[in-house]
Amino acid sequence: MKCENLILIGFMGCGKTTVGALLAKRLGWTFIDTDRYIEQEQGKTVEAIFAEEGEQTFRGLERDCIARLSRRRHQVIATGGGAVKDADNVRALRETGCILYLRLPASALYERVANDDTRPLLKPYAGEEKRRRIEALLAERGALYEAACNQIIDGEGMNPEETVSLIRKRLGLSF
Ligand code: S3P
Repeated sequence: MKCENLILIGFMGCGKTTVGALLAKRLGWTFIDTDRYIEQEQGKTVEAIFAEEGEQTFRGLERDCIARLSRRRHQVIATGGGAVKDADNVRALRETGCILYLRLPASALYERVANDDTRPLLKPYAGEEKRRRIEALLAERGALYEAACNQIIDGEGMNPEETVSLIRKRLGLSF
């Protein structure tokens, strides 16, 4: 397993961005959030890309971004929750990186995104419907996250510091 980059995967709201930024700071590595990276390159939000150009266009941009980032070193990369649906993405990320799945149950994910309406795949839903949508998507994707990762990090009930500490111990990192 190569560990020249650390990659965080997992469902929307699982904490990839917060944990990733903290982890990068501790390691002295560059932190990249692929959604923000795409937004900067395109000059518009992920929400606007979905609305104006459709999900397929976004997935193409995501694939291109991941292919380029995978060639660099010493980055902590927080991916979008749907990145693992594309086998090319997983292959590219694995070539240089160690992939960590931040796993949380649907109930905890719901709590974290209940009041967020910027994520295009959850935006049309609220309350019970949103909870069911998360359960359905997680049922589809859970196995993909588990198959793609090198390590599963169960972060339920942990704050970002504690999750970073768990990752440090699991990977034997020294910081
Ligand atoms: C998506 C997750 C989002 C973003 C896009 C699609 C998904 O990223 O890439 O809205 O398919 O799960 P986060 O996981 O950072 O919210």
